[in-house]
Amino acid sequence: MPTTKKQYKRVTTNSLIDMKSNGEKISMLTAYDFTMAKIIDNAGVDVILVGDSASNVMAGHETTLPITLDQMIYHASGVVRAAKRSLVVVDIPFGSYQSDSKEALRSAIKIMKESGAHAVKVEGGMEIENALSRIIQAGIPVMGHLGLTPQSIYQFGTYTVRAKEEAEAKKLIEDAQFLESKGCFALVLEKIPAKLAKTVAEKLTIPVIGIGAGAHVDGQVLVSHDMLGMTHEFHPRFLRRYLNLFDDMTSAVKQYTADVKSLNFPNESEQY
Ligand code: KIV
Repeated sequence: MPTTKKQYKRVTTNSLIDMKSNGEKISMLTAYDFTMAKIIDNAGVDVILVGDSASNVMAGHETTLPITLDQMIYHASGVVRAAKRSLVVVDIPFGSYQSDSKEALRSAIKIMKESGAHAVKVEGGMEIENALSRIIQAGIPVMGHLGLTPQSIYQFGTYTVRAKEEAEAKKLIEDAQFLESKGCFALVLEKIPAKLAKTVAEKLTIPVIGIGAGAHVDGQVLVSHDMLGMTHEFHPRFLRRYLNLFDDMTSAVKQYTADVKSLNFPNESEQY
């Protein structure tokens, strides 16, 4: 029996918990600028993540490590200006919360104050306890992130599936329960076995949003440039491409160049 979807004028952290208890799956996509965020918000996506994947997608870096706090705030500000319904969550970038809890709080406050975002996201479990507690005590909603955590890529060495071994799976479950107990409002699980993600989603009351974590979680997130096919060199199994914008945009740009060269653009009606 299809359930009637509750209408949310503005998605909040509480709406997400509500969706989990009503069995409604949560949709989340990344955005790093006003125009993309406007499309995503208007299409009814529940959560917009201003991910530090902006480091790869927008700036062309190999990892998420180089992006700075000010650059994240710049991206987030445009997204916040566009989002009328979606909850906007912003990644605290690498190096802005790991060294001490005071710096973590300063970074979270700076994001909230200067971008107008609604929540922040951090990577890691028990090892970030102090940072996490301090941010949450200040009244800032925090989304956790476990599994493949790209800010630790040099520790992992590869982008392969995490927590396939029992010891790592056990630690991930403990970390997930720890994040919930500390007050995180939701959790992202990246690239872990679907069975493990299902176990975590069943154990937690907060929503679990997966990327490469299978179908039995409370919601899904993808990088919008990947699912729209604007990027084309990245083919993980979990990625569904809904468009092939790389090819479509290339054709349009080629046509434009050809039109300029052949004096076909602008024509009579395209000038003053
Ligand atoms: O930065 C990002 O885009 C993310 C998602 C992959 C969850 O953290």
